[in-house]
Amino acid sequence: MEKREMLYEGKAKQVFLTDDPDLIVIHYKDDATAYNNVKKATIEAKGLLNNQISTIIFKYLIENGIPTHFIEQLNDRDQLCRRVTIFPLEVIVRNVIAGSMAKRLDIPEGTKPSNTIIDICYKKDELGDPLINNDHAVALGIATYEELDEMFELTRRINVLLTDLFKKLGITLVDFKIEFGKTSDGKIVLADEISPDTCRLWDSQTNEKLDKDRFRRDLGKVREAYEEILHRLTK
Ligand code: C5P
Repeated sequence: MEKREMLYEGKAKQVFLTDDPDLIVIHYKDDATAYNNVKKATIEAKGLLNNQISTIIFKYLIENGIPTHFIEQLNDRDQLCRRVTIFPLEVIVRNVIAGSMAKRLDIPEGTKPSNTIIDICYKKDELGDPLINNDHAVALGIATYEELDEMFELTRRINVLLTDLFKKLGITLVDFKIEFGKTSDGKIVLADEISPDTCRLWDSQTNEKLDKDRFRRDLGKVREAYEEILHRLTK
């Protein structure tokens, strides 16, 4: 496999073509952004940490029957993945109320809802990734109702698996964002990454934040928090 030209550059990652049309290389950068690009910084070693953390999590999900784009970690910063067409959709799972939902509905952060909440947002930077519903997603041509059902079913299974994984490490999985894609043979798979950039992870004992909120809210010790997550996943 040979790494070829860059296909796409995102906020935290670059995607490269390879000599195989069905394979891509995802490169993890140290760049961090928040509030739709308003806040920007470089967090030294974040790319290394997220590559490792996401690799461990994707391997665990694959072992537990979740179809994903992940093939293998190539080096410190690169992963080999299947090329997919990403649904322009952020699927957000909320086990505990925090962040935008706490703000939008004026609910104290840390409130445990009676049920798991799944939000979907339309991935469109110019609009600030607005919250939408299933009917909007179908009307916008983002996915069919059947495809949405399949994504939600996978999302619920992923939530059970990840909640259990983190619970054993003394971490509460507060919320997280995932993305799905479609392979060239029409299969829906989990894509993108799962890391402290895309999850809220609180220490179960102290509720200390061990995720990107340390950057968003200027809490300091961002790198240390990501290192702590990797440490607990590998010990
Ligand atoms: O922004 P909000 O509070 O709704 O985020 C919910 C969860 O989704 C958080 O874990 C956050 O890190 C993640 N998220 C993300 N990328 C976005 C928006 C949210 O990873 N663009």
